[in-house]
Amino acid sequence: MKGIDFACGQGSTTLFLAKLGVQMEAIDALVNAIIIVKKRAKLMGLSDKINAYQKDIDGWELKPESYDIIIATQCLQYLFDRAIPRLEELASAVKPGGFLVYSGNVPPHFKLDPPMKFIYQEELDEIFEGWLYHSKGTDERLLRPNDLRGYIWLVAQKQKKE
Ligand SMILES: C[S@@+](CC[C@H](N)C(=O)[O-])C[C@H]1O[C@@H](n2cnc3c(N)ncnc32)[C@H](O)[C@@H]1O
Repeated sequence: MKGIDFACGQGSTTLFLAKLGVQMEAIDALVNAIIIVKKRAKLMGLSDKINAYQKDIDGWELKPESYDIIIATQCLQYLFDRAIPRLEELASAVKPGGFLVYSGNVPPHFKLDPPMKFIYQEELDEIFEGWLYHSKGTDERLLRPNDLRGYIWLVAQKQKKE
């Protein structure tokens, strides 16, 4: 199985999937994130299962139906007007029978300039029409006093063609 973790941060999801046997690619804009992922992979004996790259999550071609699992958690909002088009590209890069795991922010959220790009449930439903949702939901968390944030997530499986 082949997977990719967009904006992997310190790589916890990448490492978890690699431990399950998925051949993973991990991408993040921060060189320090990539250094940490590689160090963690080495310590866990998973170096051969993980290729980690410092790279922008946008601006390069994704081959259609090329991954069994794609992770895009808490990152697409930073692509602003490219958030939805990139999510559509990610969805088309999932193989039939494969999975896409997404999470992002929705209101309430503190104001940013330029404003963060929220992707709402109806927009997700449109992108993932015909997919099987294994999980989806919303939540609000008070991260700090006066900092209540909304979250939305899904785990969706692309259905195989008949
Ligand atoms: C909130 S963290 C999320 C990390 C991880 N995906 C998670 O869910 O725990 C956001 C990450 O996105 C990365 N990031 C933001 N914009 C990016 C971009 N355009 N290309 C690559 N990485 C990006 C940041 O470096 C950071 O590691």
